[in-house]
Amino acid sequence: MNRGRAHFLLYGFLTLLAAALVVTLTIPKDENPPSGNGVSSAPDTQQWRQDAILPIPRPAEQDILSGKAQLGEKLFNDPQLSADGTVSCANCHALANGGDDGLRFSRGVGNATGVVNAPTVFNSVFNFRQFWDGRAASLAEQIAGPLLDPSEMASSWAIAIRRVKENTAYRGDFQHEYGGEISERTITDALVNFEASLLTPNAPFDRFLNGDTTAIDNETQEGFRRFTDYGCISCHQGIGVGGNFFQRFGIMGDYFADRGSITKADLGRYNITKREEDRYVFKVPSLRNVAVTAPYFHDGSAATLDEAIDIMGRYQLGRTLSQEDRRHISAFLKSLTGEYRGEPLQP
Ligand code: HEC
Ligand code: HEC
Repeated sequence: MNRGRAHFLLYGFLTLLAAALVVTLTIPKDENPPSGNGVSSAPDTQQWRQDAILPIPRPAEQDILSGKAQLGEKLFNDPQLSADGTVSCANCHALANGGDDGLRFSRGVGNATGVVNAPTVFNSVFNFRQFWDGRAASLAEQIAGPLLDPSEMASSWAIAIRRVKENTAYRGDFQHEYGGEISERTITDALVNFEASLLTPNAPFDRFLNGDTTAIDNETQEGFRRFTDYGCISCHQGIGVGGNFFQRFGIMGDYFADRGSITKADLGRYNITKREEDRYVFKVPSLRNVAVTAPYFHDGSAATLDEAIDIMGRYQLGRTLSQEDRRHISAFLKSLTGEYRGEPLQP
């Protein structure tokens, strides 16, 4: 190979490398939402799909039916993991009802009241972090939260492990799946396997994204157009229509001053980082199945979807939404309700 050609190849390679670097560097970071992308003309579902929202895939059969996920399902529904044997994960995350509890604040062991609204467990595997303030980096890290929280299951690993060991059926299951190891690690792993199977595919909007132009009506399409054009999508996007970075609640107005009686939970991410700029910052929640998970916000303050849309317009976008805006956007949000085990989720 002559020197000219070698140089040519080298420069070609370096140029490619530089281009790759630029692309990597311009991929939006967690805390910088990509800007909204206007959608003007009638259904070009492929364009919408590339722009912002991706359909939820069907969970693979082997994931739902795996022994570990089935064991996780038993643990999820078992109140014996809680201190007094009364509260299971399913108490606050009812899978027949949106994966939450429909309460403003959850009730745990001894009727203790929590300080934030329970989010749905459906599709939580897509969240970049878990909890409103993002304090758990993964589903595995999240499990100990409710188990040990005095206002939730008020338990301990010692209690949970003892109860599982006392149960003959569990001993067989753990023998089969984990060589008999019953520990914090294996209980967590089984629960995480079950959580990861909690996907809700086949929402009307996803069917639309997948090319079925009749899956949503004109009002719903118009709702998505406004959701995009007004900028909701700059925060609520991706496969979860949210759940992929943090944002302040109250960008265009002081939500907390207007609501009054600020609590520690309202400080959000600040409680974890103690950085002034993280005050009132929360994980942008996923809007998947949002129509069946009232009430809304970390403080459970909005009883209806209409109210939540109105507050978002005002405090996140500085925009007073008309009744017509709300009707359309709420039709779009309703089209994000998916199916669990073949049945559409119910409120
Ligand atoms: C007493 C009610 C209660 C019980 C019991 C409970 N949770 Fe939760 N769960 C909540 C609340 C409230 C939150 C929000 C906490 C926060 O963000 O600080 C939450 C958050 C979560 C999240 C994070 C979702 C997200 O979008 O960030 C997951 C996942 C979860 N719970 C799974 C479980 C599992 C698994 C169990 C059983 C081991 C369980 N929960 C038991 C009330 C409960
Ligand atoms: C700047 C980012 C941002 C924009 C823009 C934004 N949101 Fe939000 N949204 C959030 C955050 C953060 C929360 C969580 C607030 C809280 O509860 O602390 C949220 C919560 C919600 C909720 C409640 C979800 C739940 O499960 O409780 C709904 C519904 C919602 N947004 C819809 C919208 C709509 C509709 C628009 C456009 C009109 C919009 N959002 C614009 C960041 C944003």
